[in-house]
Amino acid sequence: GLVNTREMFQKAMEGRYAVPAYNFNNMEQLQAILIGCVQSASPVILQVSGSAREYADAVMMPYMVEGAVAMARNMGSNIPIALHLDHGNTFELAKECIDSGFSSVMIDGSHHSFEDNIRLTAEVVEYAHKKGVTVEGELGVLAGVEDEVSSAVSHYTQPEEVEEFVSKTGADSLAISIGTSHGAHKFKLKPGEEPPSLRFDILEEIEKRLPGYPIVLHGASSVSPEHVAMINQFGGNLESAVGIPAVQLRRAAQSAVCKINIDSDGRLAMTAIIRKIFSEKPSEFDPRKYLGPARTELIELIKAKNEDVLGSAGKA
Ligand code: G3H
Ligand code: 13P
Ligand code: NA
Ligand code: ZN
Repeated sequence: GLVNTREMFQKAMEGRYAVPAYNFNNMEQLQAILIGCVQSASPVILQVSGSAREYADAVMMPYMVEGAVAMARNMGSNIPIALHLDHGNTFELAKECIDSGFSSVMIDGSHHSFEDNIRLTAEVVEYAHKKGVTVEGELGVLAGVEDEVSSAVSHYTQPEEVEEFVSKTGADSLAISIGTSHGAHKFKLKPGEEPPSLRFDILEEIEKRLPGYPIVLHGASSVSPEHVAMINQFGGNLESAVGIPAVQLRRAAQSAVCKINIDSDGRLAMTAIIRKIFSEKPSEFDPRKYLGPARTELIELIKAKNEDVLGSAGKA
C-alpha cells in the first residue's frame, strides 16, 4: 500500500507541482487527508511528528495508517501514499519508524553543526536505503514563533553548503529555510502590512547548485483569515495570526519544491468548526456531531490546497 517519495518527487519535478505533506494525530485528520486527496486525485504524504506518533501510540500508528490506506483503496483509488516521519531528531527514532513500516523519514539535524548534521543524516540514510525508505534532511533553521525577524535572517539556508550536504549524506530531499516558519504566527505585521516575500533568490541559487533535486518547504500554512476570525468570534484568542500567502506557495510549487508541509491550517480549520458548534449548540455532547463537521471542513481545505495552490490535484 505505501510507497516512498522517490517517484512522487520525480513526477512533481517534471510536472512543476508539489506533493502535499499533511500532518495528522488522529482518525478524523487521517480520514480527511485521504478522502480529500482521493477526491482530488492527488498523491499524498501522511506526515507524523514524533509527538504525534506518541499521541496516537507508536504501536497503533502504523495500523491506523494501514486501515486508512485500505479505506482509500476501497474507495477505488490508487493514489500514491507515503507515510513519513516529520522532524525526526535521533537515529533511534528514525530506525523505529522505518522498522514499523514508515516509507519515508525526515532526520532534522538542522540545529546541530554542519558536520554533525551530515554525520547524523548519513547514518539514517544508510539504514533507510537498505529498506527502500527515502530520507529528507534539513539545512538552515526556520524562524521560531517567538524569534525576531533579524535573528531569523541569519538562519536562512546557505546555498554554498547544499552540494556538500547532499553528496556526503545521500539524502533524497532537502528541507530549506527561505522565510517560512512553523505555527500560526509567522510574521509580526503592523496593521495593513503585507507578509514579506519568501527568499526566492536563495531557492533559485539552490536550484542552480542541485539541478533536478527535490526541495521541501516546511512551515507553509497560509493561516486562513476566515478560520482565524471564526475562532476569535466563538471564544478563541488568535490575534495577529498570519501565514504564507497562497500566491507565494503557488510559485514555490512550480519550482524544485516538490513537498509542501501543512499542519497549522488543518488545526485551525478543525478548531474553528468545533468552536462554532460548541458555541451554537451548547447542549451537544456527541463527539461525532463536532468531530464529523470538523472532518468535513478539513476535507474541503485539503481539496482546495491540492487544486488551487500545490497543483497536485489530478496528478495521481
Ligand atoms: O513541524 C511541526 C509539526 O507542525 C508537528 O508539530 O510536534 O506539535 O506534532 P507537533
Ligand atoms: P505549518 O505550521 O506552517 O503548518 O508547518 C508544518 C510543518 O512544517 C510540519 O513539519
Ligand atoms: Na515543484
Ligand atoms: Zn516542519
